Amino acid sequence: MASLTIRKLDEAIKTELRLRAARNGRSVEDEVRVILRDAAQHKLAGTAALPSAPQPALPRQRGTMAGEQPRVTLIIGGGIAAYKALDLIRRLKERGLHVRCVLTRAAQQFVTPLAASALSNERCYTDLFDPASEFDAGHIRLARDCELIVVAPATADLMAKMAQGHADDLATAILLATNRPILLAPAMNPLMWNNAATRRNVAQLIRDGVVTIGPNAGEMAEANEAGVGRMSEPIEIADAALQMLRPPQPRPLTGKRVLITAGPTHEPIDPVRYIANRSSGKQGFAIAAAAQAAGADVTLISGPVDLDDPAGVTVKHVESARDMLQQVEAALPVDVAIFAAAVADWRVVNEGVQKLKKTAGGLPQLELTENPDILATIARLRERRPPLVIGFAAETEHLMDNAKAKLARKGCDWIVANDVSPATGVMGGDRNTVHLLSKQGDEVRIESWPVMSKDEVAVALVERIAATAKDTSA
Ligand code: CTP
Repeated sequence: MASLTIRKLDEAIKTELRLRAARNGRSVEDEVRVILRDAAQHKLAGTAALPSAPQPALPRQRGTMAGEQPRVTLIIGGGIAAYKALDLIRRLKERGLHVRCVLTRAAQQFVTPLAASALSNERCYTDLFDPASEFDAGHIRLARDCELIVVAPATADLMAKMAQGHADDLATAILLATNRPILLAPAMNPLMWNNAATRRNVAQLIRDGVVTIGPNAGEMAEANEAGVGRMSEPIEIADAALQMLRPPQPRPLTGKRVLITAGPTHEPIDPVRYIANRSSGKQGFAIAAAAQAAGADVTLISGPVDLDDPAGVTVKHVESARDMLQQVEAALPVDVAIFAAAVADWRVVNEGVQKLKKTAGGLPQLELTENPDILATIARLRERRPPLVIGFAAETEHLMDNAKAKLARKGCDWIVANDVSPATGVMGGDRNTVHLLSKQGDEVRIESWPVMSKDEVAVALVERIAATAKDTSA
């Protein structure tokens, strides 16, 4: 019987054999024996398992390993939240991702490699010095043979090692050797999360380009402990992973400057009282986030709201209509200005320097004056008028007639009209039904959009702006 010398085989075949062997946790010789045995048993068609032509390394491996599924290397750190990582494996797989798990030594105190490999349907890796996987530099393969690395839970210790570039176990060696995006889901006690060392390490990792999700606020595993430190839920992490794997979206507003006003204004009556309205700011904030996602350089000028600043947006917080106008003027020139704020129409002229007191003399007389109309002021600028000026019309009756009148009166190019009567739930709610009115010469074109979430309205509006903004620049 002839003998076969693997060393003499074509380089491409040897590479393929090494990878297959490592994947299956066998020596190369054993892998060849298995292939030959399978071939002899006609499980494989002839010699197809040993390709004769050199193969392009990565794409063909992808197909062989997991079809066209994007691959995730999931590093499970040693914390009590590790039990949730088992659910995360399922959630990632549900989203069509191929998952290969790595457990740190501490993680094995909480979950077993057997559980991780049973759920992932793959071998689970634990040891940097495992001869079965390291003969072909297994940590390099685990680091690169995937499209994304997820670390969940990311413990304070693991993040400290990452920030410092340690590589003294399989997890840290993978994290140091990878050139793939990394998603961290931190989980730890709130005191550890707030510790200055952890804050430094997380800030460093974010500067290095690592993406983080969470931690969330809530109850801790420890009795009577609560705060920020709970690992994000597996569904949230899986969605974030999917998001990172999506091809980059087109950014049609790249290079454009967009200004947005949002929220109510507060007009003081005295040092403790003010006139306001029910605007939540949600629609304006959603537009700011959508414009930022579309690549615009966004400045958001917001009245008092209970919302987090959208990431990547320059936010100026103001109180009154006059403050808002000042900040709007300071932000010019811009390519597009969107006035979504519910600006108070009036302010008190005789604002109390001290808190107004109840007196026997009767009720205080508040004298009102009209606030500057920010939209109309900007739309009528001779110089520095933004090429596209968009207003909103918040109406409780005669929606279309009032919106058309506003389009003409304010001198803007488009009006987004919405019915804000209490029955619609628009003010403060998450949904909106809008009509887009645009000037077409002397005509007004009206488009009525279906009921949508405020986020969807924002995306649709930004798409319309992008289509128009191609021809506009500040
Ligand atoms: N607006 C503004 N400055 C004001 C009042 C309104 O910039 N002082 C803007 C709003 O941001 C919105 C548009 O003008 O884009 C219409 O606001 P709306 O409250 O619907 O109308 P008003 O102009 O206030 O008129 P009315 O209250 O009579 O409906």
